[in-house]
Amino acid sequence: MRSNSGWLLSRVATASSRRRRQFGRYIRHESRPSSPHETQDRSDIMGGVASIYDFPEYYDILFGWDRSYEAQTYVDVLARHGVESGCSVLEVAAGTAQVGIRLARAGLSVTALDSSDAMLAYAVSAAERLGEAIGPLVADMTAFQVVDRFHAAINPMSSFRLLLGDADAGAHLTCMGQALLPGGVYLIDMSFGTDGSAASDLDEWGMDRDGITVTATTSCVRVVDPTRGAELILDWHESLRTYTPESFARLVDRDDQLSLAGCYRELGMVDDLSRFSGELDRELPDSGRALVVLARV
Ligand SMILES: C[S@@+](CC[C@H](N)C(=O)[O-])C[C@H]1O[C@@H](n2cnc3c(N)ncnc32)[C@H](O)[C@@H]1O
Repeated sequence: MRSNSGWLLSRVATASSRRRRQFGRYIRHESRPSSPHETQDRSDIMGGVASIYDFPEYYDILFGWDRSYEAQTYVDVLARHGVESGCSVLEVAAGTAQVGIRLARAGLSVTALDSSDAMLAYAVSAAERLGEAIGPLVADMTAFQVVDRFHAAINPMSSFRLLLGDADAGAHLTCMGQALLPGGVYLIDMSFGTDGSAASDLDEWGMDRDGITVTATTSCVRVVDPTRGAELILDWHESLRTYTPESFARLVDRDDQLSLAGCYRELGMVDDLSRFSGELDRELPDSGRALVVLARV
């Protein structure tokens, strides 16, 4: 079992009790929720180590802070690149599509791609409950084809870094090149110079909804759900790849359909919200977060 976890982005040193985190900022969860329940041994769950991805309802709680600002940032950046209301957007590794649903609300035509049909089923229902519609595409992001190509694609929350080797990352870029219309853009939320370890990427936080508490630790996800007899311990089941600007640029250089247009660097935070540069920077940062723009030639 891999010990490191998740896809977390910039670590926040600010000590705080549980606070909302927005646009991928993670605030340390100082006091874990106390549980009246016994902790269930991992080996008892579904005959093995269960993943947070197997439980979209808990995933949705854990990642369910108000992500409106994050979504609006994508809408604004997409508009800067000519992708406006009515255009089609593919959300890659969408999970429960919390960003994609908000993009649909902003008038974009959204398809959510994920390898987990459970995640996408949840996402489609969540969209319907909000009066929106998104199209589900159950697929591996390293091996898929689309019939109708997209004006743009987004990949929030560092999920690009789930592609651990050059072969997978290259295969993904090939798929994206084929999935985008000429002139289209692919926005990737990246962190450079972090290695997926607790020291650089990971943090702890917790979220509550409807009496259910889901807490992320650097090694597992803990769920306290009163409808269950015991606290549930879930695995992240994922590692994150480290990128330098050079290693990322080399990867994109190998692709003949996509080119590196630049990035919008994170400038800092205001009220726990990441603020990004309004100007496209041609250079990638050595470290820190940036919205990288790949252009379909
Ligand atoms: C970090 S979570 C999703 C984050 C989501 N974009 C968000 O903003 O909340 C990562 C997602 O990637 C999906 N995933 C992992 N590997 C994948 C792959 N090779 N192809 C497609 N989806 C994948 C998982 O099922 C999971 O839903």
